[in-house]
Amino acid sequence: MIKSPPLGSSSGLTNLASAKRILLLIGGGIAAYKCLDLIRRLRERGHHVRVVMTKAAQQFVTPLSVAALTNERVFTDLFDLDDEREIGHIRLARDADVIVAAPATADLIARMAGGHADDLATAILLATDKPVLVAPAMNPRMWLNPATRRNVEQLKRDGVHFVGPAVGEMAERGEAGPGRLVEVPELLAAIESQFAIPAEGKPLAGCRVLVTSGPTHEPIDPVRYIANRSSGKQGHELAAAAARLGADVTLVSGPVSIAAPQGVHVVRVSTAEEMLGAVKAALPADLAIFAAAVADWRVSTPNTSKIKKSGSDAPPELTLTENPDILKTIAQLRKGRPTLVVGFAAETNDVLAHAKKKLKSKGADWIVANDVSSRTGIMGGEHNAIHLLTSEGTESWPEMSKAEVATKIVTRAANHLATLKRAAAE
Ligand code: CTP
Repeated sequence: MIKSPPLGSSSGLTNLASAKRILLLIGGGIAAYKCLDLIRRLRERGHHVRVVMTKAAQQFVTPLSVAALTNERVFTDLFDLDDEREIGHIRLARDADVIVAAPATADLIARMAGGHADDLATAILLATDKPVLVAPAMNPRMWLNPATRRNVEQLKRDGVHFVGPAVGEMAERGEAGPGRLVEVPELLAAIESQFAIPAEGKPLAGCRVLVTSGPTHEPIDPVRYIANRSSGKQGHELAAAAARLGADVTLVSGPVSIAAPQGVHVVRVSTAEEMLGAVKAALPADLAIFAAAVADWRVSTPNTSKIKKSGSDAPPELTLTENPDILKTIAQLRKGRPTLVVGFAAETNDVLAHAKKKLKSKGADWIVANDVSSRTGIMGGEHNAIHLLTSEGTESWPEMSKAEVATKIVTRAANHLATLKRAAAE
């Protein structure tokens, strides 16, 4: 359906000077009111904002308030003869630099995923070849419903970008979870990150990128294994972001239930030892990112048949052996090549202190540290709040979607690699 250019640019996400044309499609959710502030802030930054409102959106904010803020007429109907004569839906789609759907309801997302064109908003989305950013907002149960999950995965595969939803209290009393429209500053940053991409901007073109992702499963017997709660979302987003920036990406993934990113070579493994083998086979790499939550230990001799409870007096004793440290092994292997090795530090306490130790002990150039204690909702969730540790110091980033974290890390890595390569050539 919609193919959009990649996020990020060789020069980072800050070169946003020129004004852009934003087509904002307001969907029917209680969070529609946030769009009023969004429009105001976009205009303050010099952007031109044109708005289309769905029928449901008009129940939450009036076209009059929106028109007053945009200083433009608001478009509402696909079959309005005046509208179509003046500026048809094809031109609305064509005249924008980026199209933003916010708040995007479960229904709007479903109609987008299904390629419907039964109102002005969906007709524009079907007709456009511009970047599309979707900011979902709905009840957490609707967001987590398998139908919505399928639709979102499909749209991501089609090249649609997502920001949020945020996790928190819902308008319905007593409801909490993922489903809130992200706050305006985050939405603003996500919109502007779309402009930072020159269509030809593929700063990782010609680079080989290796990403590990997901958990590993260490067998106890043919039916049981040791595992952890990693979903693979952050690692997969990193691989997707690197591919969008033009890299030749190998994603070595442990067992996960999420879709493989497009345009990436995926090697599926189960155990840490298999992961190490696949990683070695994928070398050399210019950039290697170790996002997998590798099991530190494996059962020394897994039982070849199912361990039986009946007939035994005591629980079985498992003897564990330490798994190879994949990151450390690979960091030691590189010689002379201008490469960048990025590790993760998943911690539940003293995050920065542990991460600083890992930066040294693992031989990584950067460590991405995060707090994965259950109260943060990061492990398995859609968002991440990371600290980036480099030889230059530590940066703490605000919470953002895992896709945005990935884009920012990979964009940063592309800049760093370019500097390394320039220095090596001198
Ligand atoms: N890692 C790895 N191979 C291992 C263990 C970890 O490649 N056998 C990598 C992870 O992918 C991550 C980094 O090392 O990039 C840190 O992983 P983490 O689980 O946070 O640390 P550990 O080395 O397991 O240390 P600890 O259990 O003491 O926190």
